[in-house]
Amino acid sequence: MANVYVGNGMDTIELGTVKYLRVVESPEKRFWTQQNWQGSGTQAPGMAYNDFNNKQILGTVPVEEDGSAYFAVPADRFVYFQLLDKNGMMVQSMRSGTITRPGETNGCVGCHESRRSSVPTNHVAAAMRRGPSSLQPWYGAERNFGYVVEVQPALDKHCVSCHDYGKEAGKALNLAGDLGVMFNTSYMELRTRGFVSVPGAGPTNVLPPMSWGSHASRLGKVLLEGHGDPEIDRQVKLDEESFASIVTWIDINAPYYPEYASAYRNNRYGRSPLDPGQLKRLGELTGMNLGDQNLSSHVSFTRPEVSRCLEKLDGGDPKYREALDIIRAGMQMLAERPRADMPGFKLVDRIEIDQEAKYRARLQAEIEMRQAIIAGEKKFEQ
Ligand code: HEC
Ligand code: HEC
Repeated sequence: MANVYVGNGMDTIELGTVKYLRVVESPEKRFWTQQNWQGSGTQAPGMAYNDFNNKQILGTVPVEEDGSAYFAVPADRFVYFQLLDKNGMMVQSMRSGTITRPGETNGCVGCHESRRSSVPTNHVAAAMRRGPSSLQPWYGAERNFGYVVEVQPALDKHCVSCHDYGKEAGKALNLAGDLGVMFNTSYMELRTRGFVSVPGAGPTNVLPPMSWGSHASRLGKVLLEGHGDPEIDRQVKLDEESFASIVTWIDINAPYYPEYASAYRNNRYGRSPLDPGQLKRLGELTGMNLGDQNLSSHVSFTRPEVSRCLEKLDGGDPKYREALDIIRAGMQMLAERPRADMPGFKLVDRIEIDQEAKYRARLQAEIEMRQAIIAGEKKFEQ
């Protein structure tokens, strides 16, 4: 990479701002369900509020003062690149991806030069005077990014003491981790109430630097600058990893589920532990269309009594009891068959188990083919 300060608005960014380049993979989709979730598209199952993929952070490499970077990425992975500042917050992002074949070398100028220009030839970029950087892993081994595992612990540790059900700050923004029909409470609050600015699945045009992501988000601003109330700010001291988890989540487009696989293929969004009949009945009892994704966190399977869909019902009302029983049944279901946002999730559906076995077999065949090519042998599939 010759110079990150070239291309797609990067000339508006002060030299020296970019400190790191992050490589993110968008893993292939191998599972799907019939129940679409009526988001901005119809791909099922539900993965994120307005996007369709999971993500895997492969790591970061340094960007030199002159904007150059030189690095190695694993071959044959669908990856994209992001530029980060000294706080690890995103400056600009590629929003499609590219693949590098084994042994291949790729070159580019920043976030892409004009097709009629080329690499500057009047100096050798600093990064090219040394060997390629290897990717610095992101807090542990490579893994699919799951909101509940990566982000919720930071909120639990630093925010939920105030931002919870039944608390004043919880009304302004509820950051509790209660599991809902599709996502959890904090995820829905952050996504639906304007605290996080990400493009999701669109628009398709190239967006200027800093126009979305942690720098453009109210949540990012509060993390960086504080609440503006000394009494609160005294109590909020984020450790480095918690800060990184939250801003990085925003910058990789605010994903939720780490897996496409689903424990509830035939239910709403491919994610609801309540079957369509139970969900409909709960809606009738509470007067709320709980099949609407925007209301999906009005149910808490973690603490059924705090479910917001119950707020309008009187505790003595038989409807209240019936509604609560349905939510408890969902809670029970999740305990027996954990969802992909819970610990203990595993493939349970025959179709997905078969799909996975077929994928593994194909992968093994591919590995053997490649070994044969390297060894100069011929190998034919049986
Ligand atoms: C952070 C800015 C940025 C950097 C750095 C960057 N790109 Fe991109 N890249 C983009 C943007 C913007 C597009 C246009 C499509 C999109 O919105 O993602 C793009 C598109 C692409 C595409 C076309 C994908 C398609 O769908 O047709 C390829 C291939 C690509 N980049 C390769 C590279 C390579 C190789 C590098 C350097 C190692 C690189 N890019 C660095 C921003 C960047
Ligand atoms: C000591 C209690 C307390 C803690 C801890 C706390 N907050 Fe707050 N927060 C508040 C209060 C009070 C408000 C203002 C609520 C209102 O406006 O009614 C607030 C408001 C906010 C807002 C809304 C600001 C706006 O622009 O509307 C955000 C975002 C926020 N907090 C995020 C967080 C995050 C993230 C954490 C954890 C890192 C956190 N808070 C920790 C008490 C707290």
